[in-house]
Amino acid sequence: MMTAAASIPRRPGAATTSGASGGACITAITSGKGGVGKTFVTANLAAALARQGERVLVLDADLGLANLDVVLNLYPKLTLHDVFTGQTKLEDAILPAPGGFSVLLAGSGMIEYSRLTPTVRDQLHEVIQRVRPRFDRVLIDTGAGISDVVLYTVSLADEVLVVATPEPTSLTDAYATIKVLATTQPRRLMRLLVNQVQRPGEGRAIRNQLQLVIDRYVNTGLDKPVMLELLGEVPFDSAVRDSVIRRELLLEGAPGTSAALVIVAAAAKHIAG
Ligand SMILES: Nc1ncnc2c1ncn2[C@@H]1O[C@H](COP(=O)(O)OP(=O)(O)O)[C@@H](O)[C@H]1O
Ligand SMILES: [Mg+2]
Repeated sequence: MMTAAASIPRRPGAATTSGASGGACITAITSGKGGVGKTFVTANLAAALARQGERVLVLDADLGLANLDVVLNLYPKLTLHDVFTGQTKLEDAILPAPGGFSVLLAGSGMIEYSRLTPTVRDQLHEVIQRVRPRFDRVLIDTGAGISDVVLYTVSLADEVLVVATPEPTSLTDAYATIKVLATTQPRRLMRLLVNQVQRPGEGRAIRNQLQLVIDRYVNTGLDKPVMLELLGEVPFDSAVRDSVIRRELLLEGAPGTSAALVIVAAAAKHIAG
């Protein structure tokens, strides 16, 4: 069964970026620290991209602490767990989500997959290869931190978006993640979304600050320098928390808030870029 959301025709020219082997451009959305808004950003960015005409799949790859289903108010009967164990076909686990995109949810009980065994590695790789031809964009909500599962999942993506907040703990963890990615993977452009900013311009300042530290302590040891590109800065807004509590997308429940508008703009920039 292909979902309604999955079969939405693509607007001509909607996606300008695409994956290495054709098919979807795969973006891993990651963070150093947990609780910074990764899942909130992933879900709403997916809705914004879908609205701009892309066929979007969100893959919940936060295998230990999956909660995309909670944010989207879905009660999945079929999850990645069933796909991994061969209990269901991949097509049947791809579900329509509010917001016009598709999801492949991890559900709970994935704890046995939170270590990167050869089996988990093969299964993640296979799922990503199989969804790539069916969508324009795949957003992967990875877990936080630098576990081997997170690093491997990011390595499967065409691009990475790091979500951080202005808190010093989030910034040092974002830096640690960027540093590990830079020294273990060939990617040199990384995107940054600063969430929960308190004032305009804070995201830009944080991007510059992180870039400075990367230039000083990471790029000196690399052949080609790592560049951070700011995708956007999302203001701290109590409407975000309210939308999570109501279990609805910010883009649907409060589309006029500045946080929602920034995400829509980030999606447009993402497509263009
Ligand atoms: N821009 C924001 N403004 C206010 N609160 C936010 C914002 N972004 C996230 N939050 C709050 O942070 C919580 C954690 O976000 P979540 O997306 O679950 O984080 P993560 O996936 O990184 O662990 C949300 O439930 C929400 O209450
Ligand atoms: Mg999350």
